[in-house]
Amino acid sequence: MNTVLLENNEKNIVFAAGLIKNGHVVGIPTETVYGLGADALNEDAVRMIFSAKGRPADNPLIVHLADFSQAIEYTSYIPQLAYKLAERFCPGALTMILPKNDRIPLVTSGGLDTVGIRVPSHHIMHNIIEISGCPIAAPSANISGLPSPTCAEHVMRDMDGRISAVIDGGASEFGVESTVISFDNENTARILRPGAVTREMLLEICDNVIIDPAILNELAEGSVASSPGMKYKHYSPKADVIMVESSFEDFVKLVSENNGENTWSLIFNGDKKNFPYKYMTYGADSSEQAHYIFQRLRELDDIGAEKVYVRSPSTDGVGLAVYNRLIRASGFEVIRL
Ligand code: TXA
Ligand code: MG
Repeated sequence: MNTVLLENNEKNIVFAAGLIKNGHVVGIPTETVYGLGADALNEDAVRMIFSAKGRPADNPLIVHLADFSQAIEYTSYIPQLAYKLAERFCPGALTMILPKNDRIPLVTSGGLDTVGIRVPSHHIMHNIIEISGCPIAAPSANISGLPSPTCAEHVMRDMDGRISAVIDGGASEFGVESTVISFDNENTARILRPGAVTREMLLEICDNVIIDPAILNELAEGSVASSPGMKYKHYSPKADVIMVESSFEDFVKLVSENNGENTWSLIFNGDKKNFPYKYMTYGADSSEQAHYIFQRLRELDDIGAEKVYVRSPSTDGVGLAVYNRLIRASGFEVIRL
């Protein structure tokens, strides 16, 4: 299959919407990361997403809508709390897990009786949903297990020859995927995957916000994940990633004692003037770190890094999302000094 890279203009957005309408899979920019979009109601098109990514069939796809008011067409129940959250965070980087109705095929929901609903704010994704008239199923546009793509070039590298087209919308604004939540009851949201909509922001609307234990800890063998994505090693570069929770001085000492030819460090911008080993920086604050993290993991692979020591980020605000992606990239390998 020939994959065309489309520049961002009106004609190409209409063209991409036509492809979606006709059952094709297209790489589409969103404000979080790039998605691999297809008509969520077209089972064959959705199967093509799974095979392009090499994604396990039991890992459900998020369904993207132009407006939250359309959620009623695809779900069997919407709690009041979901409407309140939608008022504040839709469009935006929030995915709400709701009970699905029969219109959402089981292929799309990975066999579950629920569906993740998101209303993206990015104008390209939004316009493609509107023009195609399709709810769009879209996972991140990476090969399963690799870091999520935050620019069109990443999507082309993973998907060239596997999908019909990619639209180039430049770098993703946030750089980490949406916050995924479910509802424990009418007042309580549970974060299944942290993202740009933070726990602190959710608490402005919800009485309680639970951070699912699988966000910070490895799932115990035999236990069932509340979100199937949590059971897979994710965002995994080829290098052996090791998270280090320590002072800068202890970090330098650790690297000096374990430094090899292809050992790299991922450090904060402020660290670099005192760091004598091979390094990349990944931002000065949490939102910058979110913006760069997946790009850096890909770059570390490109330069052949075999071992990567990472300065553990703050877990406040969007930092929790950065920490969660890194700890999964490390396969939960953490050194605490
Ligand atoms: O920002 C995003 O969310 C991006 C853009 C493209 O919208 N999409 C994305 O999709 O990250 P994906 O498939 O890579 O990640 C979705 C996560 C997976 O971990 C999946 O298991 C979980 O959300 N998920 C989706 N539907 C679910 C459901 N019904 N119940 C529980 N977890 C669900
Ligand atoms: Mg993904």
